[in-house]
Amino acid sequence: MIATFPTRLVKGKKDYTQDFGAPAHAEPASRTEAMRVHRKSFCILICLTLGILQAATQAQSGSQAGDPEGHEWWQHAVFYEIYPRSFADSNNDGVGDLNGIASRLDYLKELGIDAIWISPCFPSPQVDFGYDVSDYENIDPMYGTLADFDNLASEAKERGIRIILDFVVNHTSDQHKWFLDSKSSRTSEHRDWYIWRDGKGPGQPPNNWISTFGGSAWKFDPTTNQYYYHYFYTAQPDLNWRNPAVEKAMLDTTRWWYKRGASGFRLDAVNTLFENPSLPDNPVLPGKNTQGDPNTDEKYNKKLPEIHDVMRKLRNAADESGAVLIGETWTKNVGELKEYYGAHNDELQLPMDFLFTTVDKLSPAEFRRQIAGVDAIGGWPTYVLSNHDKVRGYNRYGDGKHNDAIAKLMAALFLTLRGSPILYYGEELGMENNDPKRKEDVKDPIGRTGWPKEKGRDGERTPMQWDESENAGFSKATPWLPVPPSYKTHNVADEAKDPNSILSFYKAVIALRHTNRALLEGGYVPLNENDQNVLSYMRVYQDQMVLVSLNMSGTQQKQDFEFSKHGMSSVKPLVATGKSSAKGDVVTLEPYGVFIAQLSH
Ligand code: NOJ
Repeated sequence: MIATFPTRLVKGKKDYTQDFGAPAHAEPASRTEAMRVHRKSFCILICLTLGILQAATQAQSGSQAGDPEGHEWWQHAVFYEIYPRSFADSNNDGVGDLNGIASRLDYLKELGIDAIWISPCFPSPQVDFGYDVSDYENIDPMYGTLADFDNLASEAKERGIRIILDFVVNHTSDQHKWFLDSKSSRTSEHRDWYIWRDGKGPGQPPNNWISTFGGSAWKFDPTTNQYYYHYFYTAQPDLNWRNPAVEKAMLDTTRWWYKRGASGFRLDAVNTLFENPSLPDNPVLPGKNTQGDPNTDEKYNKKLPEIHDVMRKLRNAADESGAVLIGETWTKNVGELKEYYGAHNDELQLPMDFLFTTVDKLSPAEFRRQIAGVDAIGGWPTYVLSNHDKVRGYNRYGDGKHNDAIAKLMAALFLTLRGSPILYYGEELGMENNDPKRKEDVKDPIGRTGWPKEKGRDGERTPMQWDESENAGFSKATPWLPVPPSYKTHNVADEAKDPNSILSFYKAVIALRHTNRALLEGGYVPLNENDQNVLSYMRVYQDQMVLVSLNMSGTQQKQDFEFSKHGMSSVKPLVATGKSSAKGDVVTLEPYGVFIAQLSH
């Protein structure tokens, strides 16, 4: 396969417009304009292009100077999600804790992690494993104490690792003191902190809204003879964000944690913060969901425009402390994603792009389309491969035979794109899902209500695999979820010793992205956009160019990049898997092979 470089990267090429003729994605206006300009000098072209790319990026991310290019700390950070129940158990009760996390900070440092996002560790009845918070300003005893948090924060700081907490903004636990007061009487102080309504008639909820965890989104409470609204589980009543007292209490909470050492929040379930107060029925769509409920178009209780006012207020509070906001922004398309950055880049710095989690196959065309789309909206991208709600990438992309090679391939993609990656714990080992086999073993409520169609999320939340000892070195007690058999081959201790392991590969690519300016700052330039097997692109910053070539097929692929014709005199491999290599103009990629190289004129 002959792959050619875009004209703008070719030394001495005259016509800047030729290869840009039909961009695969909408270009920001300033770039489109620049494309019309003819330039003879390669250097001028590169500087101009990248200058524009950078200016656009900085403007879109609303950043003040945090480095010479104007980037903030979170734009260079590699984030790592820790599901605290499952990371490290210091007191051997079968559930992970904060001291466990503190004991593994050196591992995270060595891996190259700059910030950990800890899924909710606040007091909670654990109906939804922490996403049902009963006190926003404390630590659940099962995870430790506020003093343990302070210790973790200071130990992390010593290692240059920041802490991002998980803020469950949409709902509280039904055991939160606000809700206990709210349900106590129709005239209680906190009554209007939640959404209470009369039913349509006896036994009939106020409307047809469906809980995403199954059944009606309304629960009748006999104490006051009204229904309360819960988009998630019945034990997770929705807060009423139209009440200024709720807004104030929640904003104050963020400030409280910033003072205590948090560097930001991952905001849970932001799409569902507001509901249409007239409660119209949602249109019913054909078919049923995995919980057996009718599909509906959630137009009256999801993605309402009022959300953006709250995002702006949360951002103001974050800016007071130089904190970052990461959004759980499930969006259908890049247009919706763009909205979460804010019209004036005054909302979320890092709305998560979950579109990769919908690809689920090794499709260069699909990845190309998504990357180009996200790149074109101009914000600072935040790609996600998997998390505690999503089957692990190892299973989703793996073919059952070459899973380790595919795990490295996906890591190379994920870690070399423009933006801030968020790893999910264990991804760096090739941890796989361990789904329950029997309904009685299921812990996640949605797996119990949705069985067997919906098995729940236990499979992707299993204990971190530290070594080959019993319970994978996670705990001396029986862990809350069983460890998959793969811990014998995929664990930190063994992989750290193996230079060809998935872990060693992650370390190498993360180290590279921390030091290579093209990977840190550079624009994304797709190459060879019609190739069905190989995804290739450049990251370009000033005169630095990094080529990334990823073979998404099970057969060897040869790519003739015509380096010499394009004036490239040196191709210096930076990271490559197996025998993937360059000879002359040709890069040979082994099945699922990775080749990352520095190019120079
Ligand atoms: C999204 C969280 O990621 C998920 O785990 C949780 O169940 C829901 N929000 C409800 O909080």
